[in-house]
Amino acid sequence: MAPAAALTPLPGARLDNALRRGRLSIFRPVTGPHSPRAGRGIGVRLGCRSATTMKSTARFLVGGNWKCNGDRESIVRLVADLNSGDVPSDVEVVCAPPFVYLDQVSKALMPPYQVAAQNCWVGKGGAFTGEVSAEMLSDCGVGWVILGHSERRALCGEDSQFVGKKVAYALEQGLRVIACIGETLEQRESGEMFNVLEEQMGAIAENVSDWGPVVIAYEPVWAIGTGVVATPDQAQEVHAYLRKWVTEKVGAGVADSLRILYGGSVNDANCVELAGQEDIDGFLVGGASLKGAAFVKICNAQSAATVGA
Ligand code: PGA
Repeated sequence: MAPAAALTPLPGARLDNALRRGRLSIFRPVTGPHSPRAGRGIGVRLGCRSATTMKSTARFLVGGNWKCNGDRESIVRLVADLNSGDVPSDVEVVCAPPFVYLDQVSKALMPPYQVAAQNCWVGKGGAFTGEVSAEMLSDCGVGWVILGHSERRALCGEDSQFVGKKVAYALEQGLRVIACIGETLEQRESGEMFNVLEEQMGAIAENVSDWGPVVIAYEPVWAIGTGVVATPDQAQEVHAYLRKWVTEKVGAGVADSLRILYGGSVNDANCVELAGQEDIDGFLVGGASLKGAAFVKICNAQSAATVGA
């Protein structure tokens, strides 16, 4: 990386807020090698994996969050489409059907696809009507769980502390966790975005000692299911910020290997440009994960981005 003295501050309206807070240091590398991602002349110091290095070797991960959609028949078709698609062996793919279809899907979906639950209970099972415990998921061979999705935060009243506890318990039971965070439009526009993300990340981090089985999904609420995807720069800005936060609060090793997914209106048309961003390590996909061919294309976004770089 070029020495700090050789870095010229680069003004940019979108990043002004972060700069004012001293949370991001935007620079233009004046001398020294440029990374392929720094081709536009912009890097985010410390936060990203560095403007002068390649993306990390962490495996790209694509999650398909089917939410509360589908029936046995449509799921048979979706699974057949997924099975007939070509997914690169270096990409990890995790599909999350509704609970009642987990068994059907895990039996029918072929490797390399894995399955995830969309939620689980905060502790050991018992008298919790309507809940599914982490132990039950493990018992049924479900290796992953999505926790803290904004729909559960907003519609089911799950706050960050509760999500943190869920993360801790799921990890204790040997599940791998996709923990979701993200700001609303109001929070973004009022300048609260970074505080909100820090609060959500903090509650997760407090409950994690081994980050190996943890993936973070940054999903701006305003982009979920709206068709309004974050621009690659908007997504990269936040991902770099989160990585910087993890570097400072947890450690550089974890920050480098932690996968931070982007979610919110990802589709087969916008995925390649997003996948080309330095700090985007995969996607959590809702609507487009219900269309086999589109989802398979999204699973191939990283290789398409590499070819196009
Ligand atoms: P979307 O949902 O892709 O339909 O926006 C993403 C998510 O909620 O995980």
